[in-house]
Amino acid sequence: MQQLSRAARLILIGAPGVGKGTQTERMMKRYPQLSSISSGDLLRKNVRDRTPLGIAAEAKMKAGVLVPDTMILRLIINELTNRGWLTSDAIRPYMVSYASEAMPNAAGVDEIVMPSDSRASGYEYSDEPSASFILDGFPRTATQASQVDRLFPVNFVVNISTPAEVIMDRICNRWVHEPSGRVYNTTFNPPKVAGKDDVTGDQLTRRHDDNPEVWKARLKGFEETSLPLLEHYDKLGVLWTVKGNSSDEISPKLFREFERRFAASS
Ligand SMILES: *[C@@H]1O[C@H](CO)[C@@H](O)[C@H](O)[C@H]1NC(C)=O
Ligand SMILES: *[C@@H]1O[C@H](CO)[C@@H](O)[C@H](O)[C@H]1NC(C)=O
Ligand SMILES: *[C@@H]1O[C@H](CO)[C@@H](O)[C@H](O)[C@H]1NC(C)=O
Repeated sequence: MQQLSRAARLILIGAPGVGKGTQTERMMKRYPQLSSISSGDLLRKNVRDRTPLGIAAEAKMKAGVLVPDTMILRLIINELTNRGWLTSDAIRPYMVSYASEAMPNAAGVDEIVMPSDSRASGYEYSDEPSASFILDGFPRTATQASQVDRLFPVNFVVNISTPAEVIMDRICNRWVHEPSGRVYNTTFNPPKVAGKDDVTGDQLTRRHDDNPEVWKARLKGFEETSLPLLEHYDKLGVLWTVKGNSSDEISPKLFREFERRFAASS
């Protein structure tokens, strides 16, 4: 278990299927001071708990429109504020209370505009090692990254680089037995009978995301938005690229670099 010397605020960027979730889990296990701040999880939690923000976001989703960036930012701000990692002395509008009467006009939350100057935003962030987190799901674009910059400086961004054909192979070779979650790999771990689960004999299926056409479309979208995002962080001097064909190849390199930057010398 490795202790950190200062707060790490980190983002992993990589193509769909590259294994960001795997790396996140491994890092959180290895560095107990590191949390995951996932916009998707926060969104689901707020919808479930019927917070004003959750209700407003749900209305957007039901209407088939994207949840606006300002709402996602508020979810993140609220979470960090609740954890005591972000404090605001000046600006009240962002301090959304979870009590519904505090915001009668919940549907209007997306109309609030972020302040344009960074330090004028009135936020202070904690640099305590325990205030370390991996920001997951947001930002996805350079514009969103600029919005995050106004709250706190992200100080380590990892460009996870695996050749597209390697991810593609992995996806095409992966078959699952849904009821049990058993995963087969037609190259390295094939089922005894092609297309059938070893234990039950049930038909194996592909996960929706493992459909090559679905994946190619997602990759294209990722490439378009991630380029400016990577450039944004490259300019800020916090980008680091790691290459590897598998999660097992990437993890040790990632740990080494992360520790070089953040680990407390013991
Ligand atoms: C991120 O990784 C990709 C894939 O290896 C590489 O082509 C690109 O130059 C990297 N981006 C930056 C900004 O370093
Ligand atoms: C199959 O296993 C090999 C070796 O462990 C790995 O490199 C490859 O990514 C795996 N493919 C899938 C689909 O899990
Ligand atoms: C990773 O995959 C690429 C493309 O298949 C291959 O050229 C390269 O040698 C592989 N690297 C390693 C370390 O296995």
